[in-house]
Amino acid sequence: MASCAKHCVAYLFLLGVLSVPAASVYTLTDQGGLGSRFDGVGGLSGGGATSRLLVSYPEPYRSQVLDYLFKPNFGAALQILKVEIGGDAQSTDGSEPSHMHSADDQNYTRGYEWWLMREAKKRNPGIKLYGLPWAFPGWVGGGEPYPDPELTAEYVINWILGAKRVHGLTIDYVGIWNEKEYDVTYIKTLRKTLDDNDLGHVMIVAADGDWLRISEDVMADPELAKVVDTIGAHYPGTNSIPMARQTGKPLWASEDYSTFNDPKGASCWARILNQNYVNGHMTSTIAWNLVASYYDNLPYPRDGLMTANQPWSGHYEVSDPIWATAHTTHFTSPGWQYLNGVGHLDGGGSYVALADGKGNLTIVIEAMSHQYSKCVRPLLPPYSVAPTQIVNFRLGGAFEKITHLYVWFSKFVGNSTARFERRDPPIKVTGGHFSVEVKENCLYTLTTIQKVRNTPTNYPDSPASAPFPLPYKDNFDGPANSSEARYFADQTGVFELFVNDSSPDHVGTMRQVVTERPIFWCKKGPTDSPISVVGDHNWTDVTVSCDVLVERQGGAFVAARVDRGGCVIKDALGFFLWVFADDTWALSYDLALKNIVKAGKLNATVVGQWHRLDLYSKGDTVKGSANGQVLFELKTGPLPIKKGFAAIGSLDFKHVQFDNFVVDRTK
Ligand SMILES: *[C@@H]1O[C@H](CO)[C@@H](O)[C@H](O)[C@H]1NC(C)=O
Ligand SMILES: *[C@@H]1O[C@H](CO)[C@@H](O)[C@H](O)[C@H]1NC(C)=O
Ligand SMILES: *[C@@H]1O[C@H](CO)[C@@H](O)[C@H](O)[C@H]1NC(C)=O
Ligand SMILES: *[C@@H]1O[C@H](CO)[C@@H](O)[C@H](O)[C@H]1NC(C)=O
Ligand SMILES: *[C@@H]1O[C@H](CO)[C@@H](O)[C@H](O)[C@H]1NC(C)=O
Ligand SMILES: *[C@@H]1O[C@H](CO)[C@@H](O)[C@H](O)[C@H]1NC(C)=O
Ligand SMILES: *[C@@H]1O[C@H](CO)[C@@H](O)[C@H](O)[C@H]1NC(C)=O
Repeated sequence: MASCAKHCVAYLFLLGVLSVPAASVYTLTDQGGLGSRFDGVGGLSGGGATSRLLVSYPEPYRSQVLDYLFKPNFGAALQILKVEIGGDAQSTDGSEPSHMHSADDQNYTRGYEWWLMREAKKRNPGIKLYGLPWAFPGWVGGGEPYPDPELTAEYVINWILGAKRVHGLTIDYVGIWNEKEYDVTYIKTLRKTLDDNDLGHVMIVAADGDWLRISEDVMADPELAKVVDTIGAHYPGTNSIPMARQTGKPLWASEDYSTFNDPKGASCWARILNQNYVNGHMTSTIAWNLVASYYDNLPYPRDGLMTANQPWSGHYEVSDPIWATAHTTHFTSPGWQYLNGVGHLDGGGSYVALADGKGNLTIVIEAMSHQYSKCVRPLLPPYSVAPTQIVNFRLGGAFEKITHLYVWFSKFVGNSTARFERRDPPIKVTGGHFSVEVKENCLYTLTTIQKVRNTPTNYPDSPASAPFPLPYKDNFDGPANSSEARYFADQTGVFELFVNDSSPDHVGTMRQVVTERPIFWCKKGPTDSPISVVGDHNWTDVTVSCDVLVERQGGAFVAARVDRGGCVIKDALGFFLWVFADDTWALSYDLALKNIVKAGKLNATVVGQWHRLDLYSKGDTVKGSANGQVLFELKTGPLPIKKGFAAIGSLDFKHVQFDNFVVDRTK
């Protein structure tokens, strides 16, 4: 950050003693040409399962949320939508289904990312689409725990072709393997396979990790340099490295933000949207995540631009990062260019300016304080911002003709907050000169773009927040808007709605469909036990009931008080009632089956037969039954297991089905 201390002192001296505004004049001109191409502000759905609950929202609320995210000139008006290419494995807040569970399977209607991309395009046909895998189905490894270059390229190209063929979606960018070591051969194979399939327009972003290795590789390998279009790094802390700039490639913060979406989170977002360019020359910034549509006690709660995780009530929150985004996106488009010479303000904060090459100019100024604009990562080195500074601009070149600039203003933290308000009258520009008073923690857009004054930018408040309703039942007979059952959030494996017309008592079921260990993304040893959680992480005294079918091998469970999800799912505690293919049952206090408390023989055949399991919990009493027959009732004594989700799942990656799920308060 600028050597503020010195400047601020000088500035205050001038103000106080001479009563003239600050010394510096910031020149914005197109003389000598414009700077880098602006590639847009984006949001990331997935990585993983972060939009899971949105698809189940009732109308009109679901469309309203989509409007706040994508509709031009409305809310965030995002310019890029990045999505996970589902890989059948946990990828942070859940697992997303793959379009190819096996080598001979292709299905382009699973999950909600296709739907989300269509909805985004419907609202903004110009929005750019970007796909990136986190995990892969096991077969892509060809027997290895790492993806095979040829198989992976084919797999990814199928996803891009499927997007076009089935949904009419043109994918603009594709990435490599999220935050993992990449294989240079794969990147070259991917380019060749894209070209062989008439996908020359699809650009490669590499490598969704840090700056160094990809920059070194691109500098050292002219063939690689030819096939990498954009260098994307994650959580760059607004900085890139000289070598990344030397590649001559556009630099992106291809994943950033990841901060709780309160006013400070919005201020973090506003600061990095400007400073990623000012400090690091990044021309796109993409927020993880797009919308917090996952349960609140999954990892990184509410780290989305807004929150919509109550489909049962319709409640959603238009959080401040939406309005921070609007400051840039309402007054620019991808393809505009940054002006050269933008940077820091003497009193702290930063300014960027963008132009459309036809005379329009948009200036975004932020003066976010260190205290109130920290992002989750990385550490923000200390700096200071003047409470107030007068900033003088001079417009040169084509911009000298500008006579006035419209002003949009936000202040997310502290007193007198404002959210994306137009401030009248517009600033008068005289002979290319104007001044603006910039206050700490404030965000300003000054622009030639005139918006219709009375454009509605708000819907009425969404319905009141409400707890997950009990009793809750699902017989999985549809209709559904997704391949997944409403409200269930897969944490390992993939559970899909399944129809078996020759099974009159169980026509519609939910079926665990991943039958091979995937190539995982989670580092800390994922679980082999597929599990899908549902409900409220605060549930204590609930009864969970479900019919289960172990098709051929393995086992099935119902669970209560499941205390976590995400990459740590393997350590989940709770009450788990299992039946196994060897006709035994068990009660365990953990998903990993390390703590089996009770076990016995079922006296019935498990494989190929439906069994009804009931698991009651109340205080420290837990009781289980199979097919109406009590298996156990016991007092747990003092246990760390206190509250959590209901869940269903299977022992391992085998086909298991579920039907007639009920969760209710224990009577
Ligand atoms: C499906 O979507 C519609 C809105 O298009 C919504 O009203 C309905 O509740 C949804 N159904 C399910 C099962 O999610
Ligand atoms: C600015 O943008 C508007 C709207 O896109 C356009 O109509 C206009 O011609 C552009 N140029 C100037 C100088 O305003
Ligand atoms: C808000 O106003 C109150 C009362 O005037 C003051 O004490 C407080 O310091 C202000 N807070 C901030 C963050 O400016
Ligand atoms: C694709 O998967 C969905 C969800 O499981 C299913 O409803 C649909 O029938 C499948 N389509 C094909 C062509 O297999
Ligand atoms: C479908 O139902 C029939 C008749 O109950 C049964 O034999 C078959 O195993 C079922 N298929 C699956 C995949 O569940
Ligand atoms: C769960 O309980 C915590 C602490 O009691 C509370 O703050 C939170 O709002 C509750 N969450 C839900 C979803 O009810
Ligand atoms: C199964 O049979 C054994 C031996 O007869 C008996 O002890 C056990 O209680 C039975 N279990 C169930 C669930 O009926």
